[in-house]
Amino acid sequence: MTIPRHGLAALGRALACALFLSNYVCSSQAEIKPDAFHRTIDGSQVDLYALKNSNGLEAKITNYGGIVVSLTAPDKNGKFGDVVLGYDTLNDYIGSTPYFGCLVGRYGNRIAKGRFTIGGVEYQLAQNNDSNALHGGRRGFDKAVWQAEKVETSDGPGLKLTYTSKDGEEDYPGTLRCTVIYTLTNKNELKIEYSAETDKPTFVNLTHHSYFNLKDGGASDILGHELMIKAGKFTPVDKGLIPTGELKPVAGTPFDFNKPTAIGARVENDDEQLKFGKGYDHNWVLDRQGKDLELVASLYEPTSGRFMEVLTTEPGLQFYCGNFLDGTNKGKGGTVYQHRTGLCLETQHFPDSPNHPDFPTTELKPDEKYTQTTVYRFSTK
Ligand code: GLA
Repeated sequence: MTIPRHGLAALGRALACALFLSNYVCSSQAEIKPDAFHRTIDGSQVDLYALKNSNGLEAKITNYGGIVVSLTAPDKNGKFGDVVLGYDTLNDYIGSTPYFGCLVGRYGNRIAKGRFTIGGVEYQLAQNNDSNALHGGRRGFDKAVWQAEKVETSDGPGLKLTYTSKDGEEDYPGTLRCTVIYTLTNKNELKIEYSAETDKPTFVNLTHHSYFNLKDGGASDILGHELMIKAGKFTPVDKGLIPTGELKPVAGTPFDFNKPTAIGARVENDDEQLKFGKGYDHNWVLDRQGKDLELVASLYEPTSGRFMEVLTTEPGLQFYCGNFLDGTNKGKGGTVYQHRTGLCLETQHFPDSPNHPDFPTTELKPDEKYTQTTVYRFSTK
């Protein structure tokens, strides 16, 4: 058979185009370049660190804000995909981010009017969320450059991050020395171990703020994800998302996730709490037996079959379903994150605990050690 010369040329062009496209699609999906994170900020080196476990899962983490930039997990057919929202470059994170993938501190979540009293002294924090303080202030731990060290553990590869928050930083009392170890275990878990010590009484509530989308990393909404939260109660809030102090039973409300339920099933219900949160943006009072690491929540995405379990030592879980995502954040590979395309499961103490003496305490004293451990475990069903 002979192929006319112009036919061959056309075939060549088509092949080249297909190759270019497949490269483009692949690289836009997962290829985050270390160069795009290599930079000094205020004299400290920022980089991107890759952890790969024995099953091929990979986490890419930067020591700027301790941000998990990407995290891959296989679907039911064994195909790996990124399951968290984020950006391709450090510049994007520095520019503007709704706390994509970061470590949050010194106090994750809200403190009413940014005010608390400790040791008889009243402290006023920055009111960076309407009249309240949110996520550690204007320059919280999500914007700090942490010291990074790669570690090999018997569980799998890890990244040890340390950060010292000075006495008076963001107007909090006490020098707080923090360590966070991320481990991507060979059991397909992203394990996060936090510890902190202070030289003066202070309040501490550290958490992690990945936006998960087990279907496609944020290309479509998370409303079909089925969520389970082991909690008989939640902390209802006022319009500013500050807890009223009540621990309200979830039974008979859209806040009952004891049986796995699609997030979209009730999110638009005519419910005052859902209106205040513009959807789910609340703290669940976890049903826990003690202080050990326990399974408290799970998330299942039926089309991919991806299943994620959440284990923690913390008493609370803030479930936020991406209500403020509105298409203004252009993320990895050019994906525009529309309304509710990612969800956060932030294990923590309850919001505004410093002003609620009956909530589990978030006070840390000089002779104590703050610890918390959270595990996001991946499998398929
Ligand atoms: C937390 C809060 C939300 C929102 C996000 C960041 O999860 O609870 O209200 O501020 O962070 O956009």
